[in-house]
Amino acid sequence: MSDAVLGIIGGTGWLGDGIAKAALASGLLSVDHLVLSNRSGEGELAGCGVRITTDNCELVQMSSMIMLSVRPEQFDGLKLDAAGKCVISLMAGVPASRIKAATGASVVVRAMPNAAVEIRRSFTPWFVDGELSVADKAFVQRLFESVGDAAEVPLEDHIDYLSALSGTGPAYPALLAQALTQGAIAQGIPDSIARRAALGVVVGSAPLLAERSAEQLIEALMAYRGVTAAGLQALTDGGFDGLIGSAIQAGATVARKGM
Ligand SMILES: NC(=O)c1ccc[n+]([C@@H]2O[C@H](COP(=O)([O-])OP(=O)(O)OC[C@H]3O[C@@H](n4cnc5c(N)ncnc54)[C@H](OP(=O)(O)O)[C@@H]3O)[C@@H](O)[C@H]2O)c1
Repeated sequence: MSDAVLGIIGGTGWLGDGIAKAALASGLLSVDHLVLSNRSGEGELAGCGVRITTDNCELVQMSSMIMLSVRPEQFDGLKLDAAGKCVISLMAGVPASRIKAATGASVVVRAMPNAAVEIRRSFTPWFVDGELSVADKAFVQRLFESVGDAAEVPLEDHIDYLSALSGTGPAYPALLAQALTQGAIAQGIPDSIARRAALGVVVGSAPLLAERSAEQLIEALMAYRGVTAAGLQALTDGGFDGLIGSAIQAGATVARKGM
């Protein structure tokens, strides 16, 4: 169990709540080493003894590390004084320099989890702007490992790029599932069967990727030179890789421009 006291501003939102619950469940933090804030002072974890406050200044004073889990447009309204402390920001498109200038934090960690924190299957890249001790880095890594997999990245720009890649979580699979479903329905497949077939592809078979690399799977399936190979070839010929690349670049441009 860590000695750190983590304060999560926005700690009852989608990501904040998922991280708070996972940090407790993993044993990384005890209830008296976790403080949450929101604008109502109410939240599920109050029932377990976690302090939930509406006073962000109180949260900052009580915490050795402060996580910002509010939406980017809510950041300017916070007016925090975290001088000399470490601030971990989950906000997309808000640079570390802006967070340092607004809060006085000596160290800013920018991390980019995704919606899969809810099921503890997020991939979370994180970047440190400033000097963070080995022990504090280990804490950050363990914190994000409590909601899945995590890795430190060497450049802040990697966070902006990865905001558009892993930060999007289920967005691209959801779009694929929708396209597969609608395509099948358009071909006369009954709605419920089309949905189950599409989910079978996107959700059911996807865990195979944890056991074999994407390259291995594609090579093996292309080798049959049959139905799957024809579909994959049509996507490749249609510029699938370029389209995916452009999609991620479009998102990264928004993140780099700032929000
Ligand atoms: N969701 C994702 O998939 C995802 C992925 C990557 C990155 N992110 C980033 O993660 C951050 C959080 O996203 P989210 O999806 O968890 O948002 P969210 O569910 O809207 O949570 C934000 C929380 O902030 C609280 N809040 C707002 N103003 C506050 C204030 N002045 N003081 C204290 N708490 C305040 C809100 O609670 P009340 O309304 O009760 O005050 C709300 O629960 C965002 O910056 C986003 O860019 C999200």
